[in-house]
Amino acid sequence: MEKEKLGGNSFIYPMPVTLLGTKHGDVANFMALGWLSRANGNPPLLVVGINKAHFTTQLIRENRAFSINYPTEGMIREVDYCGLVSGRREDKSQLFTVEYGELEQAPLIRECPLSLECKLYDIYEMPTHDLFVGEIIASYADKKILTDGKPDLAKLNPLLLTMPDNYYWTVKEKVGKAWDIGRELQK
Ligand SMILES: Cc1cc2nc3c(=O)[nH]c(=O)nc-3n(C[C@H](O)[C@H](O)[C@H](O)COP(=O)(O)O)c2cc1C
Repeated sequence: MEKEKLGGNSFIYPMPVTLLGTKHGDVANFMALGWLSRANGNPPLLVVGINKAHFTTQLIRENRAFSINYPTEGMIREVDYCGLVSGRREDKSQLFTVEYGELEQAPLIRECPLSLECKLYDIYEMPTHDLFVGEIIASYADKKILTDGKPDLAKLNPLLLTMPDNYYWTVKEKVGKAWDIGRELQK
């Protein structure tokens, strides 16, 4: 094989950049989160991988709920800050306008054009991280990011993340319709 063999410590390319919201008493806490994936169709489940040492890990276990908020490119500094400092030492709630949907324990960020509210569904313990499975019970979008009632990535302008070089990216362009363009190869 001509390919360069890399080590096993490889990542998913690209990762979404989101802000995971939890509550500490009355105070909202937000951490930057890249390790996020949809995990089931019905019920709609997602999974997040969070280091056991983070304050967020303790808060999700206590509250059994959390939110996922999609920041835009313009929020890059606030997002990075939420990934640099812990809610154990700093009140990160002051960075954003906090609002709520159905779950008191899942603070949503007004400035993020798309937010998901999740009830804790299950926990899987890995050696360094806990995998929290959340059931998405509602999502909220600014009208201006919707096309035909669905989130439109071009309008959302989300941030993406690559590791291990640790860079933020934006999305370039749509290039084809999924579950469709491959039909051109069907006999
Ligand atoms: C862009 C970015 C993405 C991150 N993604 C994750 C992640 O997916 N899982 C994780 O455990 N930590 C991740 N972190 C680190 C946490 O956000 C960081 O340790 C944060 O301070 C934890 O906050 P807390 O102690 O208030 O929970 C990320 C950091 C950055 C900058």
